[in-house]
Amino acid sequence: MTINNLTPEYSTDIAAMEKQLTQLANQIFSELPCDGSRLGLAANAASQAGIPADLPKALQQFATPNVSNFAPQQSLASFQSAPVPQHFDIPADADLQKLAGAQSVSGFTPNSLSSARQPIPSEFNLPQEAQIQKLITPRNLSLDISNLSSQGSSFYFLNDVKTFEQPQSLYTPQTHHSAFDIHAVRRDFPILNERVNGHQLVWFDNAATTQKPQVVIDRISYFYEHENSNIHRAAHELAARSTDAYEKARQTVAKFINAPSLDNIIFVRGTTEAINLIAKSWGVQNIGKDDEIVITWLEHHANIVPWQQLCEVTGAVLRVAPVDDNGQVLLDEYQKLLNPKTKLVSFTQVSNALGTITPAHEMIDLAHRVGAKVLLDGAQSVSHISADVQSLDCDWLVFSGHKIFAPTGIGVVYGKADLLEATQPWQGGGNMIEDVTFEHTRYQPAPAKFEAGTGNIADAVGLGAALEYVQKIGIQNIAVYEHDLLAYAMEALRRIDGLTLIGTAKEKTSVLSFVLKGHTTSEVGEALDKVGIAVRAGHHCAQPILRRFGLETTVRPSLAFYNTHNEVDHLVSTVRKIKRGSSF
Ligand code: ALA
Repeated sequence: MTINNLTPEYSTDIAAMEKQLTQLANQIFSELPCDGSRLGLAANAASQAGIPADLPKALQQFATPNVSNFAPQQSLASFQSAPVPQHFDIPADADLQKLAGAQSVSGFTPNSLSSARQPIPSEFNLPQEAQIQKLITPRNLSLDISNLSSQGSSFYFLNDVKTFEQPQSLYTPQTHHSAFDIHAVRRDFPILNERVNGHQLVWFDNAATTQKPQVVIDRISYFYEHENSNIHRAAHELAARSTDAYEKARQTVAKFINAPSLDNIIFVRGTTEAINLIAKSWGVQNIGKDDEIVITWLEHHANIVPWQQLCEVTGAVLRVAPVDDNGQVLLDEYQKLLNPKTKLVSFTQVSNALGTITPAHEMIDLAHRVGAKVLLDGAQSVSHISADVQSLDCDWLVFSGHKIFAPTGIGVVYGKADLLEATQPWQGGGNMIEDVTFEHTRYQPAPAKFEAGTGNIADAVGLGAALEYVQKIGIQNIAVYEHDLLAYAMEALRRIDGLTLIGTAKEKTSVLSFVLKGHTTSEVGEALDKVGIAVRAGHHCAQPILRRFGLETTVRPSLAFYNTHNEVDHLVSTVRKIKRGSSF
């Protein structure tokens, strides 16, 4: 519900309330000893003044720039990503002058203590809480206060932080269709019109990386044309725009995977960095000698090597759940590996080499029964099937932007809140700190704690645009279309004499790994390229699973929702020609 849906009398009340909140915020912030990047100091100062330490953070957005030491625009992101306290008790007689007592806090400069010394309003005269839906701030930030109530001098924010919406971006995406329509979808991806070796491109290398829709390309251009700045740090308009865009992308990611809060979402470079982050932080801190880590035979090297390295350092043991001849995890064997020594299970939701969809719900549940934590590798799944972290109940979900129509160099770690809170950061540097002295450093809460240094801001924004695009099309629509296309392609390829499909799990998506008798995989890949068909031929960074099938390499066409039955026909007829030894 937006302001437009409110009746006028409630608008009046909202305006009055906003004014009061602004007044309160300005009183508080005029006394605070620090700028918008020093929330730790603000919290200290507030608590020394007898005001709840979380109050400055919660009120940042209401302060006006000429009164506040904070730049409100800049502060929006930290406000939105900060956990919102359940309730604030503001003593009616709270003495702002006590803030002066914060002089001992490094960097404190009390300013104009004598001015604007009005009592904090003891009551906000809120209308019936059920009647107010949203408070619209000057910067279009929608704050859901449907459960905000006042009781004497107390505020109660009954909603979790996830109910706080991100500011509207200045950017308006240009997508013209909402339902799944293959022709419209294809028009969204300009590169699909590219010609390669005199033929129209057929992009069947989606498991390696996906192509980008125009909305993503435009979003990144818009960022560099209108928003580019570092985030969180500077008190200027572009920093505000860039911070808002970055945090909006975080919100979109949270929504896409149904995370409880945007605080669960850490931006990283990609899945490989995501798994390494967990191995090198939580893993090092929680896995010890003789503990066990369970993975499956299906794993990408990125979900094998970091755990091997961890085992070398800690003396833990790596166990591997086998698969059957179709490439399906043998659940009984998996279950036999689980025991109280199992501290972690890390496995993929979809195999990049075979396309197998693992029974993630069941595997996660079995792991939790022995007390193990579970990392789910969503690199190959999130663009094809739903990955709802609350329904799956995984402890971490990781994925890469570039496999879901977003740029390279951006990826995601979702982590459960208690785990993120209990985990010490991996890398140290800027942004992730609250306060640094030579003796001691205090860290920001998650997710900032895990985002040291300047991140890939523009591409995070691009990821947000990509996920919004996928959401608009609908992951269910995508899954249904791709399932049909995969079945059609499997059936057609299977009929080619001398072609063996590798990976024939009942539940599978996107990937059509195969070998062709009498032809090396690189010969097939090169021949396909001559007619514009792009596939990967090689080990797919998953050597153990290919060796499980006695192979070093396969040809791997992999589908996305912009591929068509005609393209599959083109692939199949070309493979037939290769088989016959025909020239093109
Ligand atoms: N992980 C990517 C692939 O499967 C690179 O091709």
